[in-house]
Amino acid sequence: MNELDTLADAARASFAQALTPSDLENAKALYLGKAGRITELMKGMASLSVDEKKTRGAAINLAKQAIETALTERRQALAAAELQAQLQAEALDVTLPGRQHGQGGLHPVSLTLERIENIFGSMGFDVAQGPEIETDWFNFTALNTPEDHPARSMHDTFYVEGGYLLRTHTSPMQIRYAVQHVKKHRAQLDAGQGMPEIRVIAPGRTYRVDSDATHSPMFHQCEGLWIGENVSFKDLKVVFTDFCRTFFESEDLVLRFRPSFFPFTEPSAEIDIQFQSGSLAGRWLEVAGSGQVHPNVVRNMGLDPEQFIGFAFGMGPDRLTMLRYGVNDLRLFFDGDMRFLGQFR
Ligand code: PHE
Repeated sequence: MNELDTLADAARASFAQALTPSDLENAKALYLGKAGRITELMKGMASLSVDEKKTRGAAINLAKQAIETALTERRQALAAAELQAQLQAEALDVTLPGRQHGQGGLHPVSLTLERIENIFGSMGFDVAQGPEIETDWFNFTALNTPEDHPARSMHDTFYVEGGYLLRTHTSPMQIRYAVQHVKKHRAQLDAGQGMPEIRVIAPGRTYRVDSDATHSPMFHQCEGLWIGENVSFKDLKVVFTDFCRTFFESEDLVLRFRPSFFPFTEPSAEIDIQFQSGSLAGRWLEVAGSGQVHPNVVRNMGLDPEQFIGFAFGMGPDRLTMLRYGVNDLRLFFDGDMRFLGQFR
């Protein structure tokens, strides 16, 4: 093997060792660059005769061409390898299933409120919303609970600047809704023609200074009110029994009206329910307060208690949700833990 073949082989070997395009360009300079081996050999011909130059020059040119070919091949190989690596890095498996956008769901208590609204809606009840920041008048005084009334101590709440407070129950909506209703039918009432009955539920958030496994400082209530000229306790029993059986999808569910006290109802009763089968069977579970609307409250609605009578109830949607789903700690509903909340759809 002559000296030129050795040179071409050496060039080929060093190109093969170059693993990146810039390594390759450095290796190229060593052989084909201005100060490279080929240039050096060309310069070395200066002292040769014309004939010698011809043969020597042709031989050097062959070696140069061989080196250039090797360079081109290596360039292409490196470019192909680079492309391959890039394709691999950006590989896309079009057979994979698409990524789903997580589908949201309603909060379990919202699901309960929706159920309550649907059931009472089907019984002809309107659904009303009211302010969570209330006045003393609507939250207490209008509900026959004047200042200094001992019943106020069971409704300790958060007082807001300006004489407002966070409502302790949804009962203020009895007054707010009835007053609007009466206003709308004032002329008819004054003409002695009566008015359409008031039938409304008012779900919403309520607040009390209370916190343990079954009490949260923020909780939900749903008020119910039915006022007319001929509405009795019997109607309350029928409506509420119907509601409970529909809500829990159970016919063998019994109710108990246990005498109680609220300043705004007389007589008053706690409503307890009892399942006849299932894990809760046999226990009395309190779900609502209720009673016949007190004459003073009827008067504060702008109506004559001699003519209008009715009942009200206030139930706890949080409690109903716990019973329906078998949850034993109320705080779980308000911790915002998606592992818990995501289980209700
Ligand atoms: N507002 C009462 C409470 O929060 C419940 C209730 C409502 C009782 C309506 C009677 C009538 O305890």
